[in-house]
Amino acid sequence: MKAAIISLESESSKWTVKAMQKYFDKVDSINVKEIEVRSLKNKIDILHNGKLLEKYDCVYVKGSFRYALTLTAITSALFNKTYMPIAPESFDIVHDKFLTQLVLQKYNIPMPDTYLAPTIDAVRGILRKVNYPIIIKLPSGTGGKGVMFADSFPAASSMLDAIGPLKVKVVIQEYIETNSTDTRAIVVGDKVVASYQRKATKGEKRANIHMGGVGVKCVLDEKTKRIAIKTAKALKADICAVDILETNLGPLVIEANLSPGLQGVTKYTGIDVADIIAKFLYKKAKEFKDKGKVKDTSKIFEDLGIKATTDEIKEIITNVDFRGNRILLPELITKITKFDEKDELVIRADKDRLSIEKIKGEENK
Ligand SMILES: Nc1ncnc2c1ncn2[C@@H]1O[C@H](COP(=O)(O)OP(=O)(O)O)[C@@H](O)[C@H]1O
Ligand SMILES: [Mg+2]
Repeated sequence: MKAAIISLESESSKWTVKAMQKYFDKVDSINVKEIEVRSLKNKIDILHNGKLLEKYDCVYVKGSFRYALTLTAITSALFNKTYMPIAPESFDIVHDKFLTQLVLQKYNIPMPDTYLAPTIDAVRGILRKVNYPIIIKLPSGTGGKGVMFADSFPAASSMLDAIGPLKVKVVIQEYIETNSTDTRAIVVGDKVVASYQRKATKGEKRANIHMGGVGVKCVLDEKTKRIAIKTAKALKADICAVDILETNLGPLVIEANLSPGLQGVTKYTGIDVADIIAKFLYKKAKEFKDKGKVKDTSKIFEDLGIKATTDEIKEIITNVDFRGNRILLPELITKITKFDEKDELVIRADKDRLSIEKIKGEENK
């Protein structure tokens, strides 16, 4: 089986490529900067250095928010044709902390209260009403660089004066007292495979490693694990990091990261996360290849704690093939329906809709 990673070829991506080479027959590392996307009349072409991208069994797309549009384009072109751990819509959502907040809110995932307003004056209006301290955040910031702490209205207001001319979006978030620590959970599939706590350096509120924070391995309680996994599912990411603030009232999610650095987590936990990711990608790619594009929707609902209406909902997202004017259904449909030549079928067709049902014989009554 063949796989590709499309990324900025960071150290973490290199580790992942190396780990994947243990499982896949061939792994290509492709730099996202060398990709070109062509949306044509009836197809989307992805080119790498001017040549059509090869066919892979697994394409792991990751990278910085600066390339979110390209990452989305690549993923939407390939998502149903090969196994991809991250859905097309995830990139834009996860790269914006407020969009993330809106999605997670719908899944009842606990987060700090956060406020958005369209103009700086309106933001100042919010700042007059909130309790201090507060956090002012750039929704696309990373590494702690877009996070500011203000312990009073005058402090927050002068920060806004400085930010105003930059014409960037900001959100206001309640400050959560955690003794300047946060927790990072790495989710792969249905599991938290590693987690560590980060503590900010003295005098600093941001626990990011980039800001001098230090990490220690930690074991999450079941509730926090469940919330991290639910966050990954809600964001449609099979691989991601979830940042959590642990409070007396339980865990609060602050953000997710689709391209988590592996050096930190490996160093603090001693867990070979690259290998776990590689093994998982191989397993999923194989399943995808064996089963085609079947998505067991009921399982996804179940994971999210939502009861599905029927025990078995199977959904396939595909194009139908035509032989002349006749529709040819995918082979997989034969496997799922177990229809055979002798079966008598009721076909109900309408514009944009088709259902085929077996007329049950005596033995099935
Ligand atoms: N609402 C908050 N209350 C307290 N501390 C916070 C809050 N939001 C963020 N922080 C601190 O700032 C750090 C960076 O914030 P985060 O939202 O994860 O942005 P980034 O993408 O820059 O990592 C967190 O790791 C945490 O230590
Ligand atoms: Mg963070």
